Amino acid sequence: MKQLIYLVFVLSFCLCVIYSCVKDKGTDPDLAFTDRALLDSCKNIEAFTYYKNDQATIYSGANGPHGTFKLKFNKIAYSALTVGGKLPVGAKFPEGSLVVKEAISGGTINLYAIMYKHNNSWLWCEIRPDYSVIYSVKKEPSPCISCHQQSGNRDLVNSFSFY
Ligand code: HEC
Repeated sequence: MKQLIYLVFVLSFCLCVIYSCVKDKGTDPDLAFTDRALLDSCKNIEAFTYYKNDQATIYSGANGPHGTFKLKFNKIAYSALTVGGKLPVGAKFPEGSLVVKEAISGGTINLYAIMYKHNNSWLWCEIRPDYSVIYSVKKEPSPCISCHQQSGNRDLVNSFSFY
């Protein structure tokens, strides 16, 4: 009897090991960062806090390409906004930060411009609420970076200079 219990235990252990190996192989680590997955994250309203905890629509500053917008941060990104609701000068956003600009047209969201911190650098994408992609996260080099390097940027985020 004791041996049987032992055998069942060993067998289930082996099955677990085999299952997790197979499962890992079937998982694409990039899937979490597809345009679609990022848009789904943006639509999860509870996961975000608006800039300075204020949902007011903001008017674009110098060189802003998107017109009026709202700006929101996921919890990881928001935790880095420690000085007057802004990222301190010289600081970096932590891994997993999601910064989202909701471009507003006629009172509704027209597109999401997205920055996602992954492996110490930003992934960029622009996508409409109906999932049509304007700039894919996979586009290299990103058309977004050069403009975001303008003076006053903090970890490539520009809004802190204007609002
Ligand atoms: C012509 C310059 C320019 C280009 C190109 C540009 N941006 Fe921006 N972006 C800005 C400016 C300026 C702001 C600050 C908000 C404003 O005034 O509109 C901004 C704000 C943002 C924000 C909010 C965080 C922040 O930096 O304030 C996100 C997210 C963003 N842009 C994403 C993108 C993505 C994604 C692309 C490329 C598809 C892109 N941007 C291309 C100038 C640019």
